[in-house]
Amino acid sequence: MMIGLRTVLRHGFDHVERLLDAAFGPDWNPLAQLGTLGWFLFWIVAFTGVYLFIFFDTGITAAYGSVLWLSTDHWWHAGVARSLHRYASDLMIVVMFTHLVREFAMDRYRGARWFSWFTGIPVIWFVYLSGITGYWLVWDQLAQYVATTTTELLDTLGIFGEPIARNFLSPQMLSGRFFTLMVFLHIAIPLLLLLLMWIHIQRISEPRTRPPRGLAAITLGALTVAALMSPAVLQAPADLATVPQRVGIDWMILGLYPVINAVPSGVIWGGVVVFTVLLAGMPWLPPKSEGRAAEVFLDHCNGCERCVADCPYTAITLEPRSDGAPFAFEVAVDPARCVACGICMGSCPSSSPFRRSGELITGIDLPDYPLARLRADVIEAAEALTGDARVLTLACEHGAGARSSPGFIGLPCVAMAPPSLIDYILSRGLADGVCIAGCAERDCHNRVGANWTKARFDRQRDPYLRTRVPRERILTVWAGCSGSGRLQSELLAFTKRLEAMPRFQNARAMSSDEKNDALRKARPQRAAE
Ligand code: HEM
Ligand code: SF4
Ligand code: SF4
Repeated sequence: MMIGLRTVLRHGFDHVERLLDAAFGPDWNPLAQLGTLGWFLFWIVAFTGVYLFIFFDTGITAAYGSVLWLSTDHWWHAGVARSLHRYASDLMIVVMFTHLVREFAMDRYRGARWFSWFTGIPVIWFVYLSGITGYWLVWDQLAQYVATTTTELLDTLGIFGEPIARNFLSPQMLSGRFFTLMVFLHIAIPLLLLLLMWIHIQRISEPRTRPPRGLAAITLGALTVAALMSPAVLQAPADLATVPQRVGIDWMILGLYPVINAVPSGVIWGGVVVFTVLLAGMPWLPPKSEGRAAEVFLDHCNGCERCVADCPYTAITLEPRSDGAPFAFEVAVDPARCVACGICMGSCPSSSPFRRSGELITGIDLPDYPLARLRADVIEAAEALTGDARVLTLACEHGAGARSSPGFIGLPCVAMAPPSLIDYILSRGLADGVCIAGCAERDCHNRVGANWTKARFDRQRDPYLRTRVPRERILTVWAGCSGSGRLQSELLAFTKRLEAMPRFQNARAMSSDEKNDALRKARPQRAAE
């Protein structure tokens, strides 16, 4: 059931994102920028909050007056800041839940990637707590409703010596000290939220926390227009001598409050626990069977650090050299963080399929899909190709080329293929063209695979694709799971272009000895499977 749900959602997201790609371009696609937008909205809320504090009076009697004053007399700056503060918080809730569902749909929450999911759960609660504690500072009737409902619910836990809801029984009961505590909570909880958001991205290398400038400008612009067109309202002042009859609710942050009033507190607390535990358990429902972690072969490692820089999940660390070789460093893989994407193998200078002497071992290899097997797969797939425009496709398992067809080799990430493999395919005459069918450009399944591949081909990131490799014989297609139609039509057009080209002069066909040798070297690994 989980797999079916994920597949439907994944295709649904991909369809919508293709439309957004057309409108915004892949780099500004908002659905591919939900994490960065979450951070951006947090900073809008934080800055507008600090600005509001300049004008806010923290006394119980003066708080309402100060909010009224800034919303009316100073509506054009402080009032706008207040509306921005509110609307950015609302949007943060939408962004957060869409991000959660999307990470689920893309299956980026299980296996070694459990950490970001797990640490995202307290983030949900702290976003809500920040919003709730903000609402009661205004000290209007909505604040009164939120404060009484929240404290009554907390009292049912029986953890406070004195019931805290008592503070709101009558005007005389609410002390200035208690109100100051409420103000303090609205500062402390968002600070803790920031800490949790920081922890949330600790297992991601170079996490993206800033949206592209254009998207940030559009978001801020849209929020400002909303703030000007529909300023945040202020309700009648709180009056603890009466019970507010009708309060306008912010459905994003306080949407569950009417439910709290309607059902027994046990159901609410039970719901909170079940929701949290179920969400926390999801990475193991069922656990993901990832390939074995990458393995380092010190004899072929010079400690160049490229794999450390390229690993998307901070799974590789640089260590002092331990084997006496004349290099300062070596690398080590933390199996608990490795998702077996193979990107490190693609970045290692030792990953050369051209090598003929000895076994084909590289500095860092995937035990379940080593370089030797990749080379053998390429040779075997090439044998099945015929005609004047033979195309070998290196396809990402998460993209449009996931379903295998003749000449397709599925990889956990296209960045697993070292650029020298493309050189090898073309210069050994194994194919007339190579197609790199990666997943959606807007958001690579392994975060950086698409970027590293492009940068290697453009000779901006080591290992470079050699200049001798004819670029016109390489096709790169970035397409998500629903883009197989586009991939097929681009492949067709590429084949036609190849047919019209003169034969590639520099290709030197492999001898059968050479092929057999390469296939033999992959055999021990295949036998072990
Ligand atoms: C407003 C709150 C949140 C913010 C600002 C936020 C931000 C981020 C950011 C910046 C990333 C890194 C993206 C990248 O560079 O690839 C990320 C990844 C992720 N987040 Fe969140 N997040 C939030 C809430 C959540 C929640 C509630 C969950 C789920 C319970 C969640 C689950 C994940 C997962 C699974 C990843 C992917 C990790 C990976 O690629 O391995 N996040 N988030
Ligand atoms: S396979 Fe390599 S790049 Fe990928 S997560 Fe593991 S160590 Fe990092
Ligand atoms: S890329 Fe290869 S040679 Fe460089 S540190 Fe990593 S394993 Fe060693």
